[in-house]
Amino acid sequence: ALVSMRQLLDHAAEHGYGIPAFNVNNLEQVQAIMEAASETDSPVIMQASAGARKYAGEAFLRHLIEAAVESYPHIPVVMHQDHGQSPEICKGAIELGFSSVMMDGSLLPDGKTIADFEYNVEVTRKVVDMAHKLGVTVEGELGCLGSLETMQGDKEDGHGADGVLTLDQLLTDPEQAAEFVSRTQLDALAIAIGTSHGAYKFTRKPTGDILSIERVKEIHRRLPNTHLVMHGSSSVPQELLAEIRQFGGNMKETYGVPVEEIQEAIKYGVRKVNIDTDIRLAMTAAIRRFLFENPEKFDPREYLKPAREAAKKVCVARYQQFGAAGQA
Ligand code: G3H
Ligand code: 13P
Ligand code: ZN
Repeated sequence: ALVSMRQLLDHAAEHGYGIPAFNVNNLEQVQAIMEAASETDSPVIMQASAGARKYAGEAFLRHLIEAAVESYPHIPVVMHQDHGQSPEICKGAIELGFSSVMMDGSLLPDGKTIADFEYNVEVTRKVVDMAHKLGVTVEGELGCLGSLETMQGDKEDGHGADGVLTLDQLLTDPEQAAEFVSRTQLDALAIAIGTSHGAYKFTRKPTGDILSIERVKEIHRRLPNTHLVMHGSSSVPQELLAEIRQFGGNMKETYGVPVEEIQEAIKYGVRKVNIDTDIRLAMTAAIRRFLFENPEKFDPREYLKPAREAAKKVCVARYQQFGAAGQA
């Protein structure tokens, strides 16, 4: 059944686990997530980014997720809008039937100018007002995703702050977070702790100076009852990079967020963990391998099947690692 995200996050908090929120763009990704959730008995958060809406169209995404709900009636499913850039965009998603929306007011609607605190409070509060009347959950964001190695904003998927940022901008301030939550009354708070979107997060396995789980703990200490969200939380498995390279891909050395760091964060209030890149890597590795090993094949179903299988494997692993397995 389609459920509100608040419901799932409250349950996760009560039982001390985290829920991976997977980005979806097409049929095979939706199927992979549902198969993984059904096999592990896990609750599902599927989210559509602006890029996904542009690629597939809102109607296709909505009906794909509705098909998932219909095919797996025993699994609770949240249909979440990822990174809404304005209250108008969130309003549109709510009207389409999304059960949860993110108002990302950390940036202005251009997606690259850092917004001031008052702007962020105002737009987030506005979305909360319209969403809560309809039982729709709201995620907000305070702080700017970006790298503590380069002090650059998140750039890989085309949105993210321009220029060189300060430590204050790249790490969410616990005191400001408390004010933000109390003034907006949002349901879930996305925080900046050194993660960024895409495959190129860290040039080495991250240590505490470039991935601040310490900051998660400080925010949780100040806001013990707020559900925290980690964006940019793909782990970028080295074996998937190796497989991509082995079958003709060209990806440079890079590191993601280690699963054990996410597990630590889940002990301190992180309830929603956003993952897109790991599914992309898994599908690409499988497709490259298949086409390399079967150069005569041309039926998309034949290479999308192993791609779907590889995506499912990632989802099963995250459901188990974050403690969501068995919680549906
Ligand atoms: O928001 C970040 C997700 O990884 C989605 O990326 O905008 O390329 O769909 P996208
Ligand atoms: P990754 O790029 O690390 O998978 O993050 C996805 C995300 O945060 C979507 O909002
Ligand atoms: Zn994100």
